[in-house]
Amino acid sequence: MPHNLKLPVQTVRLLEEIGSLAEKMGYRAFLVGGIVRDILMGRENLDIDITVEGDAPTLVKKFATERGYRYHIYPEFMTAQLTTDTGLKVDFATTRKEKYSHPGAYPEVERATIEEDLFRRDFTINAMALEITEGSFGKLIDPFGGERDIKNKVIKILHKDSFVEDPIRILRALRFAGRFRFKLEGETERLLKTAVKGGYLQYAPTGRVNLELGNTLKEDRVKDILLLMGRYGVLESLGFATDDRWAEVLNRLPETVRWFKDSLGWQVDTAPVYLLSVLYPLPEETAEGLLEKYHFEGYKPAIKDFYLLKGKEAEKNSDLYKSIKNRNREAVVFWTAYRGLGNRIKGILEKEKEKPISGKDLKELKIPPSPLYREIIDDVFYKHLDGEIKDREEALRYIKQTYLSEGQKQ
Ligand code: CTP
Repeated sequence: MPHNLKLPVQTVRLLEEIGSLAEKMGYRAFLVGGIVRDILMGRENLDIDITVEGDAPTLVKKFATERGYRYHIYPEFMTAQLTTDTGLKVDFATTRKEKYSHPGAYPEVERATIEEDLFRRDFTINAMALEITEGSFGKLIDPFGGERDIKNKVIKILHKDSFVEDPIRILRALRFAGRFRFKLEGETERLLKTAVKGGYLQYAPTGRVNLELGNTLKEDRVKDILLLMGRYGVLESLGFATDDRWAEVLNRLPETVRWFKDSLGWQVDTAPVYLLSVLYPLPEETAEGLLEKYHFEGYKPAIKDFYLLKGKEAEKNSDLYKSIKNRNREAVVFWTAYRGLGNRIKGILEKEKEKPISGKDLKELKIPPSPLYREIIDDVFYKHLDGEIKDREEALRYIKQTYLSEGQKQ
């Protein structure tokens, strides 16, 4: 392949073998979609999508049978999946055209040439193919200028009805723009704005919105993508909300998430954290309604705990600590950024790692082990948080005064 290839040698070998069989069967085979874009950009991508001009299930069946690989065929979609002996999964499709019965619907499909197959795709950078057929291995098929648009750093649709036929592309355009720091090409931007204004996102099946939003929430640059979604009115159109403080809160999130992960070793699922950033201005019932609408019910515990925390005032550090203790972690992370409490919460949780006294100290004071230990340790820790007890020495003095009888104090 002529490009800055980030594919493992075994994968290239596998592609050559598939291309060789395709040639023998009178078919043509191509790498398509995201992997071609990423090969040209020198980025890693492990999702191998192959499109066959011919019949993908027939090719896969023959290839897998000859090698003893597992495969699965989906005849109604003319697609198949191959699993090699090393467990690598490769998706195969038959080149096809798509017809949309109404905006946002799942498309109806029929066989087509590679160029027609590329034409049904979303953006020029995603509408390229790299041929793997023997004799043409490595040939780039780029009818819409995808390579040029990678160089120009633009997201460009292939035809003017693209967003109307598939409004999910509105979300995808902003996701790729955010991920690669690309701009929307002028006409694409205009048509995207028109489609958003026209309310087309409301026609998109909510299951597809779930998948696309789910992908967005997992992106490294999720913050930038959400900012774009806010700027273009996409969040509002989906029913989400922002307020005057939104950009400020969102801008604090990456650092806050990083701190909880790196300094406290918390496992943080960033998806509910960032989802909260477009829900918090709404009343709780509306937020929960949106979770149901877009099938994110799994994030309910995070949303519920955030709303419990939302209005809480915490003058004293000990109250702040009690508020966040045993709460859903994602809710705590988001609330920290939302309230701008990063420094205070950092201080508190760092102190939690080194409490002034331990059970061992209580034993030394001859206090018989009992549930009272927990109570004393907590009591001392809260006073330590509030600056009333500075160190171990003061803690021991306080315990003696408060918890020991006259006899025990000797
Ligand atoms: N595609 C499209 N319109 C959509 C979804 C997908 O045209 N609404 C096409 C694009 O050609 C895309 C390919 O299908 O490249 C594969 O889709 P997907 O796996 O969702 O996207 P990738 O481009 O591979 O993106 P990612 O890097 O996020 O996996």
